Order: sequence, then C-alpha cells, then structure tokens
Amino acid sequence: VGDLSKADLEGKVVFVRADLNVPLDGDLNISDDTRIRAAVPTLKYLVDNGAKVLLASHLGRPKKGPEDKFRLNPVVPRLSELLGQAVEKAEDCIGEAVTSKLATMKNGSVLLLENVRFYPEEEKNDPEFAKKLAAPADIYVNDAFGTAHRAHASTEGVTKYVNTSVAGFCMQKELDYLDGAVANPKRPFVAIVGGSKVSSKIGVIESLLSSCDKIILGGGMIFTFYKARGMAVGSSLVEEDKLELAKELEIKAKAKGVEIVLPTDVIVADKFAPDANTQVVDVNAIPDGWMGLDIGPKSIDLLKDTLKGAKTVIWNGPMGVFEFEAFSKGTFAIANELAGMDDCITIIGGGDSVAAVEKAGVAEKMSHISTGGGASLELLEGKVLPGVAALDESEVLVSAGAN
Ligand code: 3PG
Repeated sequence: VGDLSKADLEGKVVFVRADLNVPLDGDLNISDDTRIRAAVPTLKYLVDNGAKVLLASHLGRPKKGPEDKFRLNPVVPRLSELLGQAVEKAEDCIGEAVTSKLATMKNGSVLLLENVRFYPEEEKNDPEFAKKLAAPADIYVNDAFGTAHRAHASTEGVTKYVNTSVAGFCMQKELDYLDGAVANPKRPFVAIVGGSKVSSKIGVIESLLSSCDKIILGGGMIFTFYKARGMAVGSSLVEEDKLELAKELEIKAKAKGVEIVLPTDVIVADKFAPDANTQVVDVNAIPDGWMGLDIGPKSIDLLKDTLKGAKTVIWNGPMGVFEFEAFSKGTFAIANELAGMDDCITIIGGGDSVAAVEKAGVAEKMSHISTGGGASLELLEGKVLPGVAALDESEVLVSAGAN
C-alpha cells in the first residue's frame, strides 16, 4: 500500500480515517484508550510535517442519526493529551461545519470530525457522501485497520475522490504482522486458536493450515472436536452442526502435515457461573452434567512444550471463560508464556486475546497486538479487506500522477 512517509505534507489538508471506536462506560468515559493511542504515531507525524489534519472515525453503531451517546466528544481530551496539543472538534464530518474551521486551521493542527455514521450514507458507501468527505482533502490516509473490513464511504469510497490514498502507520504495522509475518513466517510457526465456537474460527483455522506448523486449539470449541471423535463431553458447549466440519479439519491438517494439539485435561464446572463447583478431569472422563470451562494443568504444560522453540506465534481466542477467575488460568498461562518468549515474533490477533494480555499486564512484551477484531479475523482468513484494497488501487493513481 502507499507509503505515508513519501508524501509531501507541508500545508496539505490530510483526511485521516482512524478507528477511534473506543469503549465508553455509562458516563461516557473511555474505558480503554488503546485505539486512540494506536492512531497517535500517524497523527504526530502529520502534525510534525505541517499538515492540516481532518480526523474522521465512527463510534458505535448509531442508527438514528446524531445521538449524543455516539458523539466523538470524549475522544477530544485524551487525544489532546496524547498529542500534546489541543485538538478541536467539528460538529459534523462534511460541509460548512468542517470548511469554516478548516479556513482558520494552522499547519500542524488537528480537527476531529463528528461520527461519520451519523449519516446512513457512510455504511451504504454512498458515492455522493464519499465525495463530500473527500472534498476538502489533498491526501487521504487510512489508519483505521479495525474498520478496514468494511467497504464504507470513509474507508473505501473516499479513495475514489482524492489523488493520493496511503496507509497510516497503525494500518501498515497491522498488515506487516497479520499479513506479512503470517504469510512468510519464521519457523516453527505455531498458531493458538481459542474461543467458544468453532463456527467463528473455521476460516482462520483453514487458512492457518496452509502456513503454520502446529495449531493449538483451546476454548469452548474443543468440545466440538472431542464429540466429533466420539468422546463424551458432559454438558459442555457443542455445535452439533459442526461435528462433520471438525472431523474434516483434523483430516485436512493431517494431509498438510500440520499437528493439531488439543488439551488433554479440562476444568469442569457444575454450572456456568463464577462460583460454580469445579474439578479437573481428563478429557475422556468428563462427568455427565458438567461443562468444561477452562483447560487443565496438564494441558498448560503440553501447550508450553508445544510453544518451545517457536519463532512465530499467533494467538486468537481465549482458552477458557477467563472473565471468571476460576476459569482464567489457561488463558493467562498462554499470555505469560508468550511474554517470556523473547526470541519469537508474538502476534495477538484481536478481540478477547488482546483483553487477556492486557489483563495479564504483559501487553508490552508482545511483538504486535492488533487493534482489529473482525478485521484481523478476516485478514487471517485470507480475505481481501476493502479498505486496504482501495489503497492499493490508489497507489497506482499516485505514481501515474507523479509521472
Ligand atoms: C470494531 O470495533 O470492530 C470496528 O471499529 C468496526 O466496528 P463495526 O463492527 O461496528 O463496523
């Protein structure tokens, strides 16, 4: 994709699409500012190089036009603090509200635009709306990796109405790790895939079968694999309609020479609750009426053994119901094990596993933590992300224009 560091920025109006879709609590306070921090390197670079930055994002999924709880206002103070300069906000993302403020903007300043999803045209990827977003801009920078799987006006359509569309540094880093490091991994390459449902991870597992050496499976999805092998799983979560598929995945793995590592023991509970009665059992001895909610100590040792010597590890999905302390050991064991693997590229591929490494206090130790949930899954599945594909096409335009 186009390279931001090659663009001439002094005095240019740069429209940056970031993913500032941060979680807010009931009082509209930001409960996790990771995505704002992820946008800072690109914004700082633009500011330092004298651009006038129009910063756009969505927040939540507003369906009724402008609603106060979906305004981007809570982002302003945190972003100003992180950038070390005051960020102004416009009350709209297109039209007069933007151009009037832009008229007095100095080089090196940032104007945060209002939630692009206040217009239904955004998600419809309406060309007229995309044109309006692009109107003031000389350059478009897409740094919104977390939204790159959406073909929306501000992530895809807008590229058709600006001359230059490049990736921001956050986007670039995500692609380097989730695409580059996974497609051309340093070996041995071990994938850890967890989560409750095999149905949501089929695409990722299938795709990783083509590149990794071993796949460790964990989380609720393992019970579908056990049942497919004819084992009793008590009242553990099983996707009955995915039993055949689980069998097929094991057959495919064998054919490709990829080792699938399944836990050998689990922590079972008599109900789905933080204070349930629990016991550790081997996977072939799950009692009737009990459900597996975490992997057991023998499995933790097995996973550590499997990870030994790995040069690339990608992790997506928890090993158990880690929101409940009683069932968090497997997930945190993985987080801590990865944190100690200094000579290994460790990639945390979005969603719950990101929350787990943060909760374990080892986020700093990972090579890369994705800011995207759905986007990282789709990229790992080998899908083309519309927001990224649009930048590729635009790069051709840029060099055509430059010649
Ligand atoms: C996310 O949180 O995954 C992204 O910001 C995309 O949001 P969306 O799922 O509402 O499109």
